[in-house]
Amino acid sequence: MPGNKSDPLIWFVGAGPGDPELITVKGKALLDKADVLLYAGSLVNPELVALSPAIEKVDSWGMQLDAMVALMVDRARAGKLVVRLHSGDPALYGSIVEQIAELKKAGIAVRIVPGVSSVFAAAAALTTEFTPRGVSETLIITRPAGKTLEKDFIAELSQYPATLAFYLGSEHFFEITAKLACPPETPAVVIYHASWPDQKIISGTVADIAQKAQASGITRSALLIVGRAVLGTDSGYQRSHLYS
Ligand SMILES: C[S@@+](CC[C@H](N)C(=O)[O-])C[C@H]1O[C@@H](n2cnc3c(N)ncnc32)[C@H](O)[C@@H]1O
Repeated sequence: MPGNKSDPLIWFVGAGPGDPELITVKGKALLDKADVLLYAGSLVNPELVALSPAIEKVDSWGMQLDAMVALMVDRARAGKLVVRLHSGDPALYGSIVEQIAELKKAGIAVRIVPGVSSVFAAAAALTTEFTPRGVSETLIITRPAGKTLEKDFIAELSQYPATLAFYLGSEHFFEITAKLACPPETPAVVIYHASWPDQKIISGTVADIAQKAQASGITRSALLIVGRAVLGTDSGYQRSHLYS
């Protein structure tokens, strides 16, 4: 049973992409029992935070690692049920390993409850899959270089016949598309706030998507997806063996 209050551990829970109903049943059960909720405020829907009866709710936005870990260790040692809520799935760009390492040093165990990553909310918004037969057998998830990453591998990765999904790229769409090895007419979309009520989908090609996203005022919380798979039923797919 998740959330036995006698366990001295921290639960890392994936909140999902935004829609509060896209958290897992297990994640929601933990939120319902949490005494302390430490959440990534910029991307976790406040509605989800409000649903939890936790007495202590702390937005980790702008907090240093040491302060976050100190809070989690202190509350776990005091016998509280501590939930660390990450946007999407904690395994993607969640910087959880460094938190887990510090918790380990303090003798605190961690359990992880996966979540729906934003890339899958994007596929749902586009009513497509990333691997239509004859179009793409591969999904590459990556991010561009920027303030917190020196070098990326966009030029190299884009040589594969794959669907490419770029996280953390909203400020870098021009740089990303300039590095892509795929033809300029390759379909591309930018999805802002997938699954939120203000979700926006901008459709274009590698040649014009950065310009279109800029014209729409998208500067954060968006994914860039590149490849014919974004066209869904118009992608030129072949029928799969699964249903033939
Ligand atoms: C720190 S990463 C966290 C990713 C998260 N762990 C996940 O699985 O979706 C933040 C980036 O994820 C993407 N992102 C998160 N939620 C999103 C959403 N609802 N719609 C579009 N992109 C989103 C954006 O690229 C954003 O810059």
